[in-house]
Amino acid sequence: MKEIALHAQSGTCKIIIGESVDRLGRYAKSGKILVVTDSSVARLHGERFSGYETVVLGQGEKNKTLASVQKVYGRCLEMELERDSFIVGIGGGIVCDIAGFAAATYLRGVNCGLVPTTLLAQVDASIGGKNGVNLKGYKNLVGTIRQPKFCLCDLDLLKTLPKDEISSGFAEIIKHAAIADSGLFSYLQDNLEDALALDKDAIYQVMCDAVAVKAGIVNGDERENSERRKLNFGHTFGHAIEKVTAMPHGKAVSIGMVIEANLSVDKGLLVDADRIRLERLLARANLPTTLSLSDGKGMIDAIRKDKKRNGDSIRTVLLQGIGKAKLIDIRLGEVEKIVNRLVG
Ligand SMILES: NC(=O)c1ccc[n+]([C@@H]2O[C@H](COP(=O)([O-])OP(=O)(O)OC[C@H]3O[C@@H](n4cnc5c(N)ncnc54)[C@H](O)[C@@H]3O)[C@@H](O)[C@H]2O)c1
Ligand SMILES: [Zn+2]
Repeated sequence: MKEIALHAQSGTCKIIIGESVDRLGRYAKSGKILVVTDSSVARLHGERFSGYETVVLGQGEKNKTLASVQKVYGRCLEMELERDSFIVGIGGGIVCDIAGFAAATYLRGVNCGLVPTTLLAQVDASIGGKNGVNLKGYKNLVGTIRQPKFCLCDLDLLKTLPKDEISSGFAEIIKHAAIADSGLFSYLQDNLEDALALDKDAIYQVMCDAVAVKAGIVNGDERENSERRKLNFGHTFGHAIEKVTAMPHGKAVSIGMVIEANLSVDKGLLVDADRIRLERLLARANLPTTLSLSDGKGMIDAIRKDKKRNGDSIRTVLLQGIGKAKLIDIRLGEVEKIVNRLVG
């Protein structure tokens, strides 16, 4: 078991890796406890937290709405939650984002705890205090940044995940290694198949290092003024790919990382051998590394609408080596050239 303390402006989060959800009560110590989960997690793991009052939400992005938050508020009211009570999200990134938002806003803030149950949520979504829901089809439009009191990563919960969900989580793990931890990158090169198979020692090691990267970055820049933006490596192109192809997030980010690594090589920041190392590792994690588009217009439009755009240029994360990232503004004209190379 490993504990990592994430200290940020909005509070301190204790991240516990390798702890069992059975010991939830040790961390949610004060007041009443309301668990928020989704129907799949309730079906697969519900008996592990059956001792708690629970609100079960529908699964999937279509349920990441204010209506789900209202359902949680309704139970808070029925249970007469108070400021020292806990709302604990047990589920994937969607449940964690909804539970975090409900906890941040009910009574202007009750305690929040998270038990992420997908690999993506354990290494990424539950760490860093961002929460929120979608509004009228716009992702994460409404939300806050507020650290939960604890984040408990029970690695046993991952055993019921479909293979594709494991690969998606690995896209973010490889991203963390590529931007900030060359040691983790080498470890993945040596142990990827064991980690993908959730071998106890390998996944524990990977989780500790990947979480430490995200926690370390958020520690210094909770509100994403500078360093935290590096976590967007692969996401400038990845988000656009996700939008135009409806590909799952992890797969789209994998292709995005390859495109942005290529751009890093073009700009003389990254040696080609390191681009190849990245591409090979992603492929071994069963993630796609190429994309062929019949038409580039949709993707160019999606990038134009990106939040990170500033006038004629867009803030992108490039690599200066494995384990070292740099924020660079690239011009939209350059983006168009790159996208047009994918057409054909
Ligand atoms: N707050 C942040 O910083 C942040 C960062 C990254 C992503 N996110 C958000 O996270 C969400 C994606 O998270 P996700 O990929 O975990 O999706 P998800 O929450 O939809 O979970 C994926 C699927 O796996 C199921 N599931 C969950 N745990 C399981 C388990 N142990 N075994 C079997 N099935 C299980 C869920 O019911 C769901 O159907 C997006 O909404 C995204 O915006 C937030
Ligand atoms: Zn991502």
